[in-house]
Amino acid sequence: MQLSVIGSGYVGTTIAACFADLGHTVVNVDIDTEIVDAINRGEPPIHEDGLPELVAAHAGEDGTGRLRATTDYTDVLETDVTFLCLPTPQQADGEIDLSIMEAGAKQLGETLAQKPDWHTVVVKSTVVPGTTEEVITPLLEEASGKAEGEQLGIGMNPEFLREGTAVHDFRHPEKVALGADNDRTLEDMHEVFAPLIAEADPHIVETNSRTAEMIKYANNGFLATKVSLINDIGNICKEFGVDAYEVADAIGLDDRIGEQFLRSGLGWGGSCFPKDTNAIIHAAKQQGYSPAVLEAAVEVNDNQPERLLSLLDQHVDVADQKVAVLGLAFKPGTDDIRNSRAISVIEGLKDRGASITAYDPVAAANMRERFPEIEYADSAVDALVDASACVVCTDWDEFAVLDEEFDQMEQPVVVDGRHVIDASGDLTYEGLTW
Ligand code: UGA
Repeated sequence: MQLSVIGSGYVGTTIAACFADLGHTVVNVDIDTEIVDAINRGEPPIHEDGLPELVAAHAGEDGTGRLRATTDYTDVLETDVTFLCLPTPQQADGEIDLSIMEAGAKQLGETLAQKPDWHTVVVKSTVVPGTTEEVITPLLEEASGKAEGEQLGIGMNPEFLREGTAVHDFRHPEKVALGADNDRTLEDMHEVFAPLIAEADPHIVETNSRTAEMIKYANNGFLATKVSLINDIGNICKEFGVDAYEVADAIGLDDRIGEQFLRSGLGWGGSCFPKDTNAIIHAAKQQGYSPAVLEAAVEVNDNQPERLLSLLDQHVDVADQKVAVLGLAFKPGTDDIRNSRAISVIEGLKDRGASITAYDPVAAANMRERFPEIEYADSAVDALVDASACVVCTDWDEFAVLDEEFDQMEQPVVVDGRHVIDASGDLTYEGLTW
């Protein structure tokens, strides 16, 4: 099949390369010429495990030719199905910002006005229920002059790709949700996913676009709430001197609970859970409903960094003292610092007058843009030398092997927000929930 993917973020680039690998011919459209040039050289514009191999295999001079990128929307006309993978950021009050999606849909519609026959558009971006039907469809219809269900199919297919493991998650989905409001659109979506379904045998959920949109929010909302619930329980554990990780291991044995997403600590960050929980809370309130559990999940998450700092306060007055911050990325395996819990921790340390030295194996450059005034070390040990305290914000594997390095601290006080440090040495060690 001939596919086009609008947007070359981590979702757009990943699905474009993965669909090419499944045998489709894919054109990836983006306004950024640097991104487009990179893909056309056979190089991925983002850091994702497994992506360099796929982009090199299918784009660039030595590729199969099944993947290329362009800034030209008219290339969409050569394709049968277009995936809209544009960003849906949040506004200051948490409401979803659809302006990039709206502009993309309008430009796509104007392009499709030149296509005489049927075209299917699939919304892949995370959008609040009703957006495909009430915002994207009218824009596409008006700009293209085509009617949905007649010459235009519009579907919704949410993504469940995690940053850092997006290629793996694409290839091994537990479910594929196909939201369509007419048979021909659903048939096209089935054809796109047929090679993946044959290979990975996922559950197929056929539904309408509105429900597909909600499935995405329910998925992320549930997982974010699960982490906040184990953090809430973990905070109780800490008060009673109980190790929340032992408790989580035990309750995770119950199939009804499941072992995943029970790692308690500093809480969730990234570009998805914070944005999506806020967007669905805002959207629900606009409908007149206040989702109490989701709001509590956000509140627990917001409070975890301050809980970590209050544990630190019990051991050290950090004013004018060197404090090492280990880990800046919102999770290991990425240089992404968006909504990283490390940001709140650094703000709290600054409020306390600490002299901060931070280290992260890949995310320091991004954090330097956010906090140019603090120090950045080239290694964990450099951050630890002469520090009066250390706080751990990301569970990078390399922190698990730190041992004698702590001897170089002025006082070996370690507050671990991610259950990663080996506390068996001569440390004053505090786990956040254990
Ligand atoms: C998340 C979802 O897991 C994906 O399914 C979804 O497609 C994606 O959002 C999205 O909407 O695009 P991602 O944000 O990449 O993926 O990261 P996760 O691995 O889910 O982790 C999110 C946050 O939760 C991280 O800060 C992580 O440290 C934290 N977390 C996760 C915990 O604190 N404890 C856990 O047990 C699990």
